[in-house]
Amino acid sequence: MGITQNSERIRVGLEGEMPDGFQTAVEMDGVGVLVVRYEGQFYALRNNCTHQDYPLLGGEVSMGRITCQKHGAKFELTTGKPKSLPAVKPVRLFRTEIEDGVVYVSAL
Ligand code: FES
Repeated sequence: MGITQNSERIRVGLEGEMPDGFQTAVEMDGVGVLVVRYEGQFYALRNNCTHQDYPLLGGEVSMGRITCQKHGAKFELTTGKPKSLPAVKPVRLFRTEIEDGVVYVSAL
């Protein structure tokens, strides 16, 4: 698989309007993407738990992990990896970037 440049970016919003702990969801190619600001950094993951089809938006974030509200699976924000059952599959990650104070997500 070669390196393909995916130039499509979705605008999330202004960095200054998204304080720590902020969460939102955007849509990219028909896929819901959760954007979370945690300890100053922005993270983007597919907005679906991998245990069942349930949105991760609004889940509690601590220790760098977001908790699914349905059955309590935890996913690492930096890798999307599940860190507790019942989920065993990782959540797809997306790239976040900030340009001129605007936060964008794009495919990784
Ligand atoms: S749907 Fe997320 S833990 Fe079950």
